[in-house]
Amino acid sequence: MHQEGSINENLSSSIPKYGLKLKLNHVYKEKRDQKYIPRLGIILSMLPLIFRYLIYYLKFKWRGMKVVMDYVSPREPQQIYGVPIGGIGSGTIGRGYRGEFCRFQLRPGIYEWNTVDANQFIVTIKDENGKTIFQSLLSTFPKSSLSSWKSRIDGSKCNYTGLYPRSWTEYDLSEYGIMLTCRQISPVIPHDYVNSCLPAAVFAWTAKNVCNANRTVTIAFTFKNGTGSVADKKATCSSKSFNYENSEGVILYNTLDSTQAAYALSALSKPGVSISKCSYFDPKSDGSDVWSQLELNGEFDRPKKNAQNHFFGETACGVASKFAVNANETRRIEMSLVWDIPKVIFPVDQKTYKRYYTKHFGSENSILKLVSYAFDNYESWEQKIYDWQKVVLDDSKLPDWYKGALFNETYYISDGGTLWMLLGDEELRTIPQNDPRVEYGRFAYLEGQEYIMYNSYDVHFYASHALHKNWPMLQRCLQYDLRDFVYLEIKSDVKELYEGTICERKKSNSVPHDAGSPSEGPLTLINAYPIHDVSSWRDLNSKFVLQTLRDAFAASPQKPDIDFMKDMYDACFMVMQKSIKNDTNADGLIENLGIPDQTYDSWVMSGVSAYCGGLWLAALYGMSTMAERLGKIDDKKLFESILNKAKAAFEKKMWNGSYYNFDCSTHHSKAIMADQLCGHWYLMCSGIKTDIVFPEDHVKCALKTVYKSNVQSFCDGNMGAVNGMINGEVDTASVQSLEAWTGVTYALASTMIYEGMVEEGFKTAGGMYNSMIRCGLAFDTPEALYAEHHIRAVAYMRPLSIWSMQMALESSINN
Ligand SMILES: *[C@@H]1O[C@H](CO)[C@@H](O)[C@H](O)[C@H]1NC(C)=O
Ligand SMILES: *[C@@H]1O[C@H](CO)[C@@H](O)[C@H](O)[C@H]1NC(C)=O
Ligand SMILES: *[C@@H]1O[C@H](CO)[C@@H](O)[C@H](O)[C@H]1NC(C)=O
Ligand SMILES: *[C@@H]1O[C@H](CO)[C@@H](O)[C@H](O)[C@H]1NC(C)=O
Ligand SMILES: *[C@@H]1O[C@H](CO)[C@@H](O)[C@H](O)[C@H]1NC(C)=O
Ligand SMILES: *[C@@H]1O[C@H](CO)[C@@H](O)[C@H](O)[C@H]1NC(C)=O
Ligand SMILES: *[C@@H]1O[C@H](CO)[C@@H](O)[C@H](O)[C@H]1NC(C)=O
Repeated sequence: MHQEGSINENLSSSIPKYGLKLKLNHVYKEKRDQKYIPRLGIILSMLPLIFRYLIYYLKFKWRGMKVVMDYVSPREPQQIYGVPIGGIGSGTIGRGYRGEFCRFQLRPGIYEWNTVDANQFIVTIKDENGKTIFQSLLSTFPKSSLSSWKSRIDGSKCNYTGLYPRSWTEYDLSEYGIMLTCRQISPVIPHDYVNSCLPAAVFAWTAKNVCNANRTVTIAFTFKNGTGSVADKKATCSSKSFNYENSEGVILYNTLDSTQAAYALSALSKPGVSISKCSYFDPKSDGSDVWSQLELNGEFDRPKKNAQNHFFGETACGVASKFAVNANETRRIEMSLVWDIPKVIFPVDQKTYKRYYTKHFGSENSILKLVSYAFDNYESWEQKIYDWQKVVLDDSKLPDWYKGALFNETYYISDGGTLWMLLGDEELRTIPQNDPRVEYGRFAYLEGQEYIMYNSYDVHFYASHALHKNWPMLQRCLQYDLRDFVYLEIKSDVKELYEGTICERKKSNSVPHDAGSPSEGPLTLINAYPIHDVSSWRDLNSKFVLQTLRDAFAASPQKPDIDFMKDMYDACFMVMQKSIKNDTNADGLIENLGIPDQTYDSWVMSGVSAYCGGLWLAALYGMSTMAERLGKIDDKKLFESILNKAKAAFEKKMWNGSYYNFDCSTHHSKAIMADQLCGHWYLMCSGIKTDIVFPEDHVKCALKTVYKSNVQSFCDGNMGAVNGMINGEVDTASVQSLEAWTGVTYALASTMIYEGMVEEGFKTAGGMYNSMIRCGLAFDTPEALYAEHHIRAVAYMRPLSIWSMQMALESSINN
């Protein structure tokens, strides 16, 4: 039963001390944009690339397709976001801290950054005589339509708390006798593969009467179909009201492109709550009829007949719960928003997938089952989320900012254009029954909301710790897909934009850059990235091996997952064999090509580099470790002997006395790279503590150097770690050397924590974090920050690497 009482009686639903805390009238102090202009020298060197990019851009526009990276009109950060709603991989709807429904990702992988005025909660308060004494929107954002709908709440007296995947909004309406709280709950639950995939959110309202007189309160929830785009004006749409098991509400049906979609707005039925429904109003009107119905009666007018309505154009609907709150009492009501878009179809390959939740709920008319399930289970979702977060939130040794940051950054798992789908019938027939994808499906998320390439593997390498730690089976499924992609060949020729050469889109026996773009056909048309010939990248092969190592070993280094290793081993072996051929001088180390042939895709590396060389050493160690566990003694010897040679060469060529040189170029080798210990970091994350690969004293010394130069000497230590420093200055050799990368900063902080530099680690990440808060980048974390004014690539995958800090913290606790 739902306990009637103060919200604070129940620990699992009470408002946490940590998280994003803002007043509803908050204005951020600083605004950053994406208008960074590189210095002239760099622009000149990039002219051919820019020129080729523009041609590529126009070609895509001409065909009506989205480019994977839009540099022509990047999205500026809007400083409005709060915790988004929805589980993982079934579409997401963003929420603003002021109450917006914004940032729709219901078309798979395609973001629409609209705020829809018609999506609102409205409160009506009546006194003991039934006279309406207050009616207001429960949002404070400016709107341009529905002019008779008014916000009369005082934002300075209302609080928002965001701690993903939940948020709380407290409204002080004590002037009218009521304190109101809304809890927003989405089913994002670690290790839970049944609930976490659901396209649902519950809004649990608590109304507390703080005066001596009785009150009647109505909460109305209104919603319009569509996503606020121009396309909303076309197609047909219909709605119908329902009364099903434990709830009542309205369903809106419509099509998104060619896919059928349904949304359900519902209220939980319970004694003392009168539910009314409005199955149609015009979201383009001034809204006065709906507004006055609520004002007059505290409910929507009863419809004349309960038949299905058909409408053309945009359609909005509503559901309202009216209940008495007597003097000094507290009452709770529950509402929900559920959407059901069971199929995923991509424009170019026209392949159809079913979303993962259809496994339990079916793919036809599942929406009412989902609604009823959400109401029955949301309290257990909350309890599980609470239990998960409690361990971190209650740890007095951790800084406050980190507690909020760890969970809030996790937003990208669901709000990363994420897809979680079932295997198709054909795949089910062809893959072995013990393949994890049979049970857990296929998982993909975008490199960035603006960088629309799925599973970009060079970046996922950093972000994957979040999956590995919380949804390890999704990481497994992704890794099996990746293994299969290694063998895949796509023969079509593409012109890579950096040098203008023609290359094969996907060479067989190579690790791809990405699993494709939602504007083509993800999971089939892989390698959508247009800038370089990624088959010659120097980081991807090592990163594939290292992720395999981490996934096999991290959970229990003494008892690694042998079956998984077996399944991955051949592909790992093969890509390592290929990489060995890129050791041109037989010193055991692979050399870079003098182009940006790795994840820093505009930062040139020549000869051996600290970054790719370090990853390579770690991968060699990983291969020898895995070969040993699999009883492949010859392979073990092979990789061990290359490692021994390579290690000696690496120390000799790269160690400068206080850090590893950037690369072996004549002019630029001295640069100090924040990410120079990336390979070492991954071994630590895999639970492998060894100084066989990188000498302990060199690791510690390099970290101190990086802390001093890239962190403390950059923006007074308040902006994380700048990617490159040279001769005591920020390295301006490329547009990326002078950026601070959020995900790399978290990874560096993790490395520091593993190495016992806990305070330095938190200072490194904390400085950057504070800057982001000041600029309103919550739930919009960019890939890169510049020293001043600018950022790049909002809402990006890499910052999920913050989970490696948690892995480091837990591992030092164990020791
Ligand atoms: C908002 O937070 C402030 C400061 O913690 C608190 O005093 C106030 O009561 C809160 N307002 C509401 C509506 O709960
Ligand atoms: C409400 O609570 C207050 C303070 O506890 C008390 O003084 C008042 O009599 C109560 N009113 C009613 C109607 O119960
Ligand atoms: C509030 O309503 C209850 C139940 O109808 C009634 O018993 C009580 O006297 C009312 N209280 C006030 C303060 O009017
Ligand atoms: C909303 O409904 C309209 C009108 O029926 C329909 O044309 C449109 O496609 C719907 N919008 C979306 C985005 O689903
Ligand atoms: C790197 O190795 C690949 C695969 O063996 C080979 O095709 C390529 O030519 C090599 N590139 C260089 C520059 O060594
Ligand atoms: C290492 O690099 C620093 C800073 O770039 C430089 O001053 C120093 O001379 C270098 N040390 C050696 C041994 O090359
Ligand atoms: C999460 O909450 C923190 C407060 O701890 C806030 O400052 C931050 O911006 C939020 N993070 C994200 C990614 O939204």
